Amino acid sequence: EDEKVIPTEPTPIWNVAHRGASGHAPEHTLEGYRMGGTMLGDFIEVDLQMTKDGVLVAMHDERVDRTTNGTGLVKDFTLKELKKLDAGSWFNDLYPEKAQPHYVGLTIPTLEEVIEEFGTDERYYIEIKEPGIYPGMEKELIRILEKYKLIGKDPKESHVLVQSFSPESLQKLHELNSIVPLVQLFTYYGDIGTITEEELREIDKYAIGIGANHNGIDEKYVRQVVDAGLMMHPYTVNTKEDMRKVINWGVTGMFTNFPDLLRDVLKEY
Ligand code: G3P
Ligand code: CA
Repeated sequence: EDEKVIPTEPTPIWNVAHRGASGHAPEHTLEGYRMGGTMLGDFIEVDLQMTKDGVLVAMHDERVDRTTNGTGLVKDFTLKELKKLDAGSWFNDLYPEKAQPHYVGLTIPTLEEVIEEFGTDERYYIEIKEPGIYPGMEKELIRILEKYKLIGKDPKESHVLVQSFSPESLQKLHELNSIVPLVQLFTYYGDIGTITEEELREIDKYAIGIGANHNGIDEKYVRQVVDAGLMMHPYTVNTKEDMRKVINWGVTGMFTNFPDLLRDVLKEY
């Protein structure tokens, strides 16, 4: 049985800068990530897609359309082609009140560029997106995390968490490296989500926590997860009211587009 680990010094409630401080700056750009750190986010959240030539890049969508001036699937672009896209101007157009001239022409960062920029003092909460369409994604991620010593020999020193909606992908990661801490994601639509003790025991075999949409869970769900010894990180919590709601439910962290708001709310506790 592998050692069960909660990585890093646990702060009581982790502030995860969702896609960077994406309520303030273009998501998944170095600017947005930097702001997440400045606003005292404990983790930078990085969603991953993979280029045609096998490079892991920071992007939420399978397509480049929403967050760049290009069109098409990430998997059909080489890194060189992807780097020509403007990943900042869309934000200025959509949020004129938050627009900044230096957002124009920002590029899509590779995972390695992100790590090289912010180093191993930063913590990264990385999501494997669309593992089904990118064969070898897990192997490439582990290669990079090992190269930059983000996992390390002692799991308590880990500066990374890896999350996915795909249990198969998480299990693959666990087989490749049993130390890297993993988080199983869920989305609950309609009725409030429920989880059985048996499901929690299954998840506990490979993961250290669960992430779920905050409007799809309730206090009972959160208490059940935490009582099972797992972390509970709701997403994406963007108002002070909702932040207080999930804190009172007993969560161990949350994803937010506004790490500055959460930083202020946490001072109340
Ligand atoms: O990873 C938690 C949350 O980020 C999942 O939703 O769509 O923003 O990646 P999404
Ligand atoms: Ca995500």
